[in-house]
Amino acid sequence: MHIKGKISYSSPSNIALVKYWGKEPGDQIPMNPSLSMTLRECKSFTTVEYEVKTDAEPSIEVVFEGKRSIDIEAKLQRWFTKISYFFSWLNYATLKVESHNNFPHSAGIASSASGMSTMAMCLYGIDKHIKKHNENDINLLSNISRLGSGSASRSVLGPYALWGRFDGFENSTNDYAVRYPYVHETFLDLHDTIIVVDKEPKKISSRDGHSLMEGNPYRQARIFQANKNLETLLYALKEGNWEKFQHVTESEALSLHALMMSSEGGMLLLKGGTVDWIHYIRNKREETGLPMAFTMDAGANIHLLYPAGVHEQVMGILEESPVPSIDFIQDSTGKGPEKMIDEYEEI
Ligand code: PMV
Repeated sequence: MHIKGKISYSSPSNIALVKYWGKEPGDQIPMNPSLSMTLRECKSFTTVEYEVKTDAEPSIEVVFEGKRSIDIEAKLQRWFTKISYFFSWLNYATLKVESHNNFPHSAGIASSASGMSTMAMCLYGIDKHIKKHNENDINLLSNISRLGSGSASRSVLGPYALWGRFDGFENSTNDYAVRYPYVHETFLDLHDTIIVVDKEPKKISSRDGHSLMEGNPYRQARIFQANKNLETLLYALKEGNWEKFQHVTESEALSLHALMMSSEGGMLLLKGGTVDWIHYIRNKREETGLPMAFTMDAGANIHLLYPAGVHEQVMGILEESPVPSIDFIQDSTGKGPEKMIDEYEEI
């Protein structure tokens, strides 16, 4: 077999409403189920030029944001050893990867979710040509993405994706994310304004953060809480209940950071500005009655979620705030990856 081609996809990041934080023994098995909203604007763009020839030596070269990245090459190679079970042709593929994001680094937007899912889309596209099939096995795609980065499993789906076994949703599994379909129109077009208060790279990777949950004294309580919050959130999404949505979203953001702080070594990612913004948002919400709910990833920046209809008012509140910010990044509910280029020839 000898095939050559070029394939390109974009894939969005996502923001978790119920957080994945901590693993179970095994290969990327989450400690608790999580649920996220897929984003529309913040994306990774990946192009793979490939040549697959039986018995050739495998090789990979990655250019990320214009620069060769040996770190990403090593990360992808580790991932390939796991997924060559599905894509055995990786053992004799020559790959040239170019990838970039349209959002700034360290902006509180999960770039591993968009980056790994966009790479999974490209590999699956190549697999279709090699095996001559035209399936669109979204479970397999999500599974492959998960093996690269847990949160990436949720980026291949939109608008809401649930990953991890949860008793309250029959099709849920630890192997891949599934779409949560029962969403009231209130939540089908949410805006997410990311309030950037800090641009410094994180002092600790999420991989190390997950492993700190192993010895966390609140581990069992967290598993219970995440399941309970997920149950409430699924109800809120279905019924269009903003109050419950807001309650869970904020409880999860604060709990994530509380778990980090209570881990060995006391991981503190919040900045003074983060806390000031939270107080400001809560005060303004009480004053105006506007529906807005904040969340955070493993970082200092804030995602402020609200229905599209109140965008002007919310932005007015953010812009007149005395609390400083570096930037506001605008995003909203999205659908998932998109194909951009797919050309190949059999030799
Ligand atoms: O997928 P990872 O290993 O980068 O972990 C993501 C962890 C959080 O973003 C903090 C939460 C989540 O569920 O996305």
